[in-house]
Amino acid sequence: MTVKIAPSILSADFARLGEEVRAIDAAGCDWVHIDVMDGHFVPNITIGPAIVKALRPHSKKIFDVHLMIDPVDPFIEDFAKAGSDYITVHAEAGKHLDRSLQFIRSLGKKAGVSLNPATSESAIEFVMDKIDLILVMSVNPGFGGQSFIESQIAKLQRLRAMIGDRPIELEVDGGVTADNAARIKAAGATALVAGSAVFKTPDYEKNIAAIRNA
Ligand code: DX5
Ligand code: ZN
Repeated sequence: MTVKIAPSILSADFARLGEEVRAIDAAGCDWVHIDVMDGHFVPNITIGPAIVKALRPHSKKIFDVHLMIDPVDPFIEDFAKAGSDYITVHAEAGKHLDRSLQFIRSLGKKAGVSLNPATSESAIEFVMDKIDLILVMSVNPGFGGQSFIESQIAKLQRLRAMIGDRPIELEVDGGVTADNAARIKAAGATALVAGSAVFKTPDYEKNIAAIRNA
């Protein structure tokens, strides 16, 4: 099975975001990964629902929206209406993960849950039937361009076993490069986020292919 590649537009040129989304679409990405940060749950501020809505006409590909915000529930509906496909919340944000996930699905969207590097996979043991995607953070969220945290390979292997035959995507986010992509895939990942590794040089097609074919 080929792994899905989800370039993170956090590393794109924010002054030309629509153009950048069209460029990664044309370069063969599978999903568009959109990092939403609030300066509270993570030490950085990025994109809000108005920008997701403005980007929507630029690509028909799946919008994979990663919410690094706390509280999260008051904003889920806005991101759904803006045109998100997957909406991913952090297990560490908000107090009622089960409710947040049910709410996402009630809006007709795919529900994702993300785990920070220090969070055990056991945090999602009791919501496995309410999720469509698990996003393993392989860096501490907040910034692009950090190094992959090796301990997350073992977490991926455990999550792969927990998923069994459920139709859940296992996505990895942070420090993914053409050099480590093969090991991450071998640990069970089905989707790879890559920010700096895609946007570092102008040939996005080559950079995406290098990660996919690693
Ligand atoms: C980090 C974000 C990531 C980040 C990945 O908080 O969630 O999506 O942009 O960037 P790279 O691939 O450069 O580590
Ligand atoms: Zn992300």
